[in-house]
Amino acid sequence: MNNINKGKSPFYPGQPVPIEFFIGRMNEIERIRRSLKQVELGKPQMIFLTGEYGIGKSSLAGFMKYWAEKDNHILGIHVLLGSAESLEDIAIKTVETVIKTRIYESTIPEKIRNFLSKYIGKQELFGVSINLKELKADGPDISQGYLSFLQELLNRLKDDGIKGIMLILDEINGITNNPQFAHFIKTLVDENALNSTPLPLMLMLCGVEERRRDMIQHHQSIERIFDIVEIKPMDKSEMKDFFTKTLNSVDMKITKEAMPFLCHYSAGFPKIMHIIGDAVFWIDKDNIVNEADAISGVLAAADEVGRKFVEIQVYNALHSKDYHSILAKIGKENISLSFQKTTIEEKLSSIEKRKFNNFLQRMKRLKVLKSGDEFGEYIFNSRLVSLYIHLNSIKDKKVNP
Ligand SMILES: Nc1ncnc2c1ncn2[C@@H]1O[C@H](COP(=O)(O)OP(=O)(O)O)[C@@H](O)[C@H]1O
Ligand SMILES: [Mg+2]
Repeated sequence: MNNINKGKSPFYPGQPVPIEFFIGRMNEIERIRRSLKQVELGKPQMIFLTGEYGIGKSSLAGFMKYWAEKDNHILGIHVLLGSAESLEDIAIKTVETVIKTRIYESTIPEKIRNFLSKYIGKQELFGVSINLKELKADGPDISQGYLSFLQELLNRLKDDGIKGIMLILDEINGITNNPQFAHFIKTLVDENALNSTPLPLMLMLCGVEERRRDMIQHHQSIERIFDIVEIKPMDKSEMKDFFTKTLNSVDMKITKEAMPFLCHYSAGFPKIMHIIGDAVFWIDKDNIVNEADAISGVLAAADEVGRKFVEIQVYNALHSKDYHSILAKIGKENISLSFQKTTIEEKLSSIEKRKFNNFLQRMKRLKVLKSGDEFGEYIFNSRLVSLYIHLNSIKDKKVNP
């Protein structure tokens, strides 16, 4: 493909979206801005930002952090907990994040560096390195005095007009299983509320609903602590807006006929929108995305999703030959997002029929399918996955005996 002359792709599959490419989410933004205003006025707020994988939690959190700093004079700390499993890990990651936070206002970075100088290694050309040995040694103390740490941080920045702190704990998959985490959060919130002057804190957790349930299981009152902000799939106008604006940013246009393809297969999932958009960006040759570009883009994206996800997690996980042939029959029948169990059943051999229920359960556990609202209805979690399975069933003998 002759795409050496293409500039930088404006699509970001797999990364939170940069502020300038952020699209939509008006209601959620309004809701969170209301809370930020409360924090600015001194009242702590707790939000659990939820929604499925790839729906845009980290992106929205990052976007709100930007506004919190700009509009509310609230310092944002976006902690990606990732592999954190203990409270010490949380403390360490938090300090690291504070040290590495990019703030361009003159004296704030210097004050942060002074406050945390003990944990800073040598100054490097593009930022600071962390003295992990010192930081690890102090991890337990910092986690025990977590609220005081935040309070002290704010105190040092008050003269710069900073009025509060937005603490985003993101990627909490590794930590919610630890019963101590729910207690840690509960204690943090309670201690703060009991202070004579509470820290103006926006505490935002980002995670799928199952993680919130984990926490509630360990501490019932987590349910009452947080306001829930749920991110849903984008609607058609948000999707259109996304493709139009993102392509326009690199002087590309999209035809009226091409748009429905991109929207249909993205089905409101920002993650898929970026994968498809990126594929289209590289396929297009004349800066006008037409129907043919859109179709090629969707197929290329399906292929990519297929290689990364479907092959490994679905085909390889389904060792049974019968499972593969059931999947192929579903694929042949189906290019839409959902199917009725009975429709597929009619096409199955008697052996396949006997295995069908187990197959469906298995697919649910693999997060490929979920139950629909109607009885006997099954829905693919991702349209691209269903498309890939469909294409595979037509072209690939292996799964189409
Ligand atoms: N509002 C948005 N506008 C544009 N792209 C978005 C938006 N929200 C999310 N994305 C993109 O969707 C993908 C998944 O977003 P992310 O924030 O990582 O989701 P989550 O944290 O829920 O898993 C990323 O590629 C990101 O760039
Ligand atoms: Mg995320």
